[in-house]
Order: sequence, then C-alpha cells, then structure tokens
Amino acid sequence: MELKNETVLIMDFGGQYSQLIARRVRECNVYCELRSYKISADEIKKNKYKGIIFSGGPNSTYEENAPVCDPEIFRLGIPVLGICYGAQLMAQSLGGKVKSSEAKEYGKTEIECNTSSLIFHSASAKTVCWMSHTDYISELPHGFKTTAISDGCPVAAMEDIKRHFYALQFHPEVQHTQEGMLYLKNFLYNACGCTAEWKMSSFVENTVKELKKKIGSKKVLCALSGGVDSSVAALLVHKAVGKQLTCIFVDHGLLRKDEGDQVESVFRKQFDMNLIRVNAQDRFLSKLKGVSEPEKKRKIIGEEFIRVFEDESKKLGAIEFLCQGTIYPDVVESGTGEAAVIKSHHNVGGLPEDVGFEGIIEPLRDLFKDEVRKAGTELGIPDFLVQRQPFPGPGLAIRIMGDVTEEKLDILKDADAIMREEFAANGLDKKADQYFAVLTGIKSVGVMGDGRTYDNTIALRAVTTSDFMTADWARIPYDVLERISNRIINEVKNVNRVVYDITSKPPATIEWE
Ligand code: XMP
Repeated sequence: MELKNETVLIMDFGGQYSQLIARRVRECNVYCELRSYKISADEIKKNKYKGIIFSGGPNSTYEENAPVCDPEIFRLGIPVLGICYGAQLMAQSLGGKVKSSEAKEYGKTEIECNTSSLIFHSASAKTVCWMSHTDYISELPHGFKTTAISDGCPVAAMEDIKRHFYALQFHPEVQHTQEGMLYLKNFLYNACGCTAEWKMSSFVENTVKELKKKIGSKKVLCALSGGVDSSVAALLVHKAVGKQLTCIFVDHGLLRKDEGDQVESVFRKQFDMNLIRVNAQDRFLSKLKGVSEPEKKRKIIGEEFIRVFEDESKKLGAIEFLCQGTIYPDVVESGTGEAAVIKSHHNVGGLPEDVGFEGIIEPLRDLFKDEVRKAGTELGIPDFLVQRQPFPGPGLAIRIMGDVTEEKLDILKDADAIMREEFAANGLDKKADQYFAVLTGIKSVGVMGDGRTYDNTIALRAVTTSDFMTADWARIPYDVLERISNRIINEVKNVNRVVYDITSKPPATIEWE
C-alpha cells in the first residue's frame, strides 16, 4: 500500500491553530501537509491532493494586502473546507460578502445546524463550538446554502455541495467545539472520499522499507541523546539496516540520575544496537569550571557536544549517512513562514551541516510529536523513554544556578529523582507537563537535631502547558509536596530547605536559567 495516496492539503493563512488542524486530520488517519497559502493551483493539481483546508488567520478579507489564494483553486474540482478566515475568504472569493461586526464573538458559542447537510451529518442539531472572530459572512455566494447559525452569526457554516465547497466560521479543530472531530471526518471521508489509511503501523512498515532502499549497504551514524525523537529515528534506521547503523551517545554527565545507564541498557540490551557511549562528564565539567552565566554554559555545552561527537566519529572511518530526529513542527516552522512561531531553543544535539556526509536521513520529518511517540511504542521502545517529559539539551547545568560542580550535580540528581518518584507514585507525572528540581544557589539557616545548619535550598518546579511558550504552575496537593520535602531533607545531604515555585510563564520561564 502506498501510504500517501491520500494527502490532504492545509493552506496556512497564518492562524494560530494551523498546526492543530493538521494534527486533527492525522488523528482521523488521513495524511496531510501544511503549506503556505501561496501554493499555486498547478502545484496542488500536480500533488493530487484529495482535499484542501483553508486555515484561519489574523487578517480581515477586505483589508488591502490580506492573504488570498490562487483563484484557480476553486476550479480544480477538489473539495475545499474553509475555517474562520478561510471561510470568509471562500465567501468573498466566490462572490459573497464579509462584514465587520460591532460585537466580537469569542469563546464557546451555541450553534444550530442543519443535520441533513454533509458536514453536520449525524451531528447534534444544537451544540457548542469555539468562535473567534469579529468579521462574519453577511451574504452567501451564489450556489451556497447556510448550514448553521449562531446568535451573532447569520452564516456560522455554509456549503455548496455541487462544487464541494464547505465553510465553518468556528474552529472544529479546537477541543471546545464539542463535535468538531465529527465535522472534520465528514469532510475528509464523505466529501474528499479519504479512507483513513494513515496508521502508525503502516508508517513504520513503509518507512523501514524506504530506508532499506535508500541506505542499501551503506553505513549510517546517529547522535543518540535518549530523547524521544532521536531514539525513534535511530530505531527506525536500526530496524531497516541493523548493524550498519552506529549510534553515538554522548553522556555529558548532566543527565538525570541513572539516565545514561537506562538509555544504554535499552538500546544495547533490548535492541542490540551498535552503540558507543562516550562518558564525557570530566570533559564537560572542566570546560564548565567556574562559569556561571547561563547562556555561556549553554554555548560551552553545545560546542563541546560537537567536539566529542566529531572525535568519536573520526575513529569510525567513512560513514555515508547521518540520521537526525527532525520532526514535522521543525520543518513547518521554518517552512510555511505564515504562523508567528518563534523557536527559542535549539537542541544541543544540533550538528553542523558540514561534517562531511553524503546524505542526511530524517525518518520523522512528516510526524508530529504525538505521532513520534506512537511510532516509538509501535517499535517497542519502553514507555519511560517514549512518554518522557521534555528535557533541555544542556541538562542539569541550567538547573544549577551558578557554576556547575560534581557535588552540586549529585545533590540535584538525588533531589530530582525523589520528586520524580513521588510524582509517578501519585499519578502527577500524567498531569504536569514538565516537573523537576532546581538547585537554587541560595544557602540559608536551618536547625537539624540540636545543631544549626547553613545549607542549600532546593526549589521544585512543575508546570502545565500545551506549547511550552506559556505555562501555569501546577497545583500539586500539599501532602505530596510535604512528602517530597521531607524525603529530600532526610535523604539528600546538604539540603535544609525546599520551596515550591508558584510563578507562571510569563513572567517567569519554565527553567530557572
Ligand atoms: P523556558 O525555560 O524557556 O523553557 O520557559 C521552555 C522549554 O524549553 C526547554 N528549554 C531548553 N531546551 N535547550 C533545550 O533543548 C535549552 O537550552 C533549553 N532551555 C529551555 C525547557 O525545558 C522547556 O521545556
């Protein structure tokens, strides 16, 4: 089965939910690509897309320089679904009218829909959806019928079934739209005729086949960090070409407690991979000695990582391919250029392009993070690796305020391990999106037994977030905090105070450095 027979195109008009639309379409088991709204009708025709979705966007269709699509798209005979700005653009392009309203309709809104229309087939006649607009379609284009209304919106949805054009003023991709997935499925299956063939098991099978063909009898090198992306990418290649793949795992000594051993054990013992573990803690610590400025620490770690990797790979002789764990959001963030996403961090694993390889292999280029996790599970990678919370490339070095020493690393590793154990024991590992301990660099006075102490303060940080750009501090039950605090004071040497960070992002960041 050719997996990408059925591809749906999502045209990005700069909306904040464009990537979310793509994820939802994939959740309906339909493969899709997110491209700029500037894509031409010719290219669309060439790529044989089964359907097109216009995303939302921040503009008004009647503004000068508002983004518009190639008008030929409407003559291709391919079904189109317009969402929010995309709906208004469809209306305006086909002869309808769009107006600005006095009242902005924002948030959960009740709509009434015509359940005999294609999009609302099998849906509830009255339901709640998520609106976010000031403009609305005031006049239908010729050939269209209104299929849903709300108090503030005479055309909450419209369709022209003959020409396969559908439009929704609200956001079906957002969770608050109660039956949003049903509307998307109706479009994908009933309007576009997609058959839901995009499944993780077939992705893994097909990718392994393609990799075998591409790599042949050549050799591949991969920098394994133990993070989700590089692990899954490496394992796909390993499945395809076995020992032709060599992985270099640079252990910079800044990982969490026992993490280096766990990574080694999974890849060496469970998967019998060609793995070179470089224990480079001393190299990193000596470079970091006396350095307390956060950005400087990051830079040193990034550079040293590349040095170590180069030193090791030189020992291996000529290798044709480099495997990297690039995922779809990395590709589209630098690709469509429409959404205002600014990537603030680059992983330490980022290698310079001129390391002299014949080609780069990026088996995860088409996948979203949650799909990468699914692929990992499909490949048999244990949950603790596949479901793990994000961990910064510079590791614990940016969770130790000030300069980094082995003694400080030991304190932090022990405190952090206790926090993680207690989070897991109380089911909080599923509720918080990131959680960790910080060695604050503050020393304070305490009493222990009969004696006065002057020792370290550990801060606990736990946040909930969906995009890591903004975050809220997690509401952790007091009894769990109490237990973590007691255990850290009793079990970790040189700590006499534990505090909990109750700052959201912004104004704070998630990490302390
Ligand atoms: P902040 O602290 O900026 O963190 O709110 C947002 C997310 O990015 C991670 N982070 C990093 N990841 N290298 C990385 O690979 C870094 O230097 C870095 N700094 C922060 C952080 O853990 C959180 O998930």
